[in-house]
Amino acid sequence: MMSLFDKFLPLEETRTELVAGSGVDPFHVVVEKVVSATEAMIHGRKVIMAGTNNYLGLTFDPECVAAACTALREEGTGTTGSRMANGSYAAHVALENELAVFFNCPAAIVFSTGYIANLAILSTLVGPEDVILLDVDCHASIYDGTRLGAARVIRFRHNDPADLEKRLQRLGQRVGNTLVVVEGIYSMLGDRAPLREIVDIKNRFGATLLVDEAHSLGVLGQQGRGLAEELGVEAEVDFITGTFSKSLGTIGGFCVSRWPELEYARYAMRPYMFTASSSPPLISSTRKALEILCRSTALRKKLWDNATQLYQGLAAMGFELGPEISPVIAVRLPASVSETTVLWNELLSQGIYVNLVLPPATPSGGPLLRCSLSAAHSKVQINAILDAFSLIKEKLQHP
Ligand SMILES: Cc1ncc(COP(=O)(O)O)c(C=O)c1O
Repeated sequence: MMSLFDKFLPLEETRTELVAGSGVDPFHVVVEKVVSATEAMIHGRKVIMAGTNNYLGLTFDPECVAAACTALREEGTGTTGSRMANGSYAAHVALENELAVFFNCPAAIVFSTGYIANLAILSTLVGPEDVILLDVDCHASIYDGTRLGAARVIRFRHNDPADLEKRLQRLGQRVGNTLVVVEGIYSMLGDRAPLREIVDIKNRFGATLLVDEAHSLGVLGQQGRGLAEELGVEAEVDFITGTFSKSLGTIGGFCVSRWPELEYARYAMRPYMFTASSSPPLISSTRKALEILCRSTALRKKLWDNATQLYQGLAAMGFELGPEISPVIAVRLPASVSETTVLWNELLSQGIYVNLVLPPATPSGGPLLRCSLSAAHSKVQINAILDAFSLIKEKLQHP
């Protein structure tokens, strides 16, 4: 074998050992057919999808699908290039204007994915003279953005404002050139940033704040703008990044800012300039989904009803969960990686698909069964998820 592949051998060995030890292969799950926003065919049978991030269940919304079909017919399948080279389509610009109005911000930029939005912002806004202070549990796209850029990176303890304060203090003069980065809802445990305390600290030190609202857009806040809206601190957050791939049910990313000068950075961002822009059907369905998100609080309410039912049901069974009710519900089992994999497969054979998250991708170090709920789940489906987990509980108690 060519030696370039040598470095992957330990990874492959770990994977092979897990498959041999558990008798389950979690790495090659194929969704054979998508049936609805909450159901799919896996291994030839219909399962309830409880790990999709499809928070508002809009992937099959008739208005979104119709908007995508119209754009597909009228503008084609793709843009075949970047906005810098090929030009922006009117719909890209319209979506940016709609995001600016929605967030009440003077600046908005749309990117091809949320990953790319974070790469672009974190590699460009902060340069070699600047510092990024990020919560240690931040998403990989934030870490990768810092790797593409040249700023000094310092991590602070997860959701620990005192640790953030201590590290800002140590920076002395450099604090004015510091970007603090946190998330609205953290993607693995579903917990929220203590944003009021963080805003207070960054104001006292004169630092700048970015909040990634990927999992909180459409989920938190009266209007669905996220955690900053929910806590009434939007005017003090400098940048919000997010994705279209969760509550809006499409693909794409964005950054909005209270600073109109964000526009100066557009043509300095390599991940903006050197990748193709989002396709017409994606942009059109995203615009429609944003319109629905704006006009409907009912979906958000249904999502939270579902989250509360599942969280309280699992807590009553004695499962160890993330610290607060959230549409992301992580179940930490007193079990090894191999045992957790077997239990994940047991859920699948009961007709429930959840995310199996293995270390080192987990914040806690141990494996997690991560559920994410949707407004499109019915009470009957939530009960089915609970029934499957209660079976797991029995297996754990009487192996
Ligand atoms: C916190 C966070 N930021 C950014 C992203 C990237 O979003 P996208 O899927 O649009 O690339 C994700 C996706 O999982 C995420 O969880």
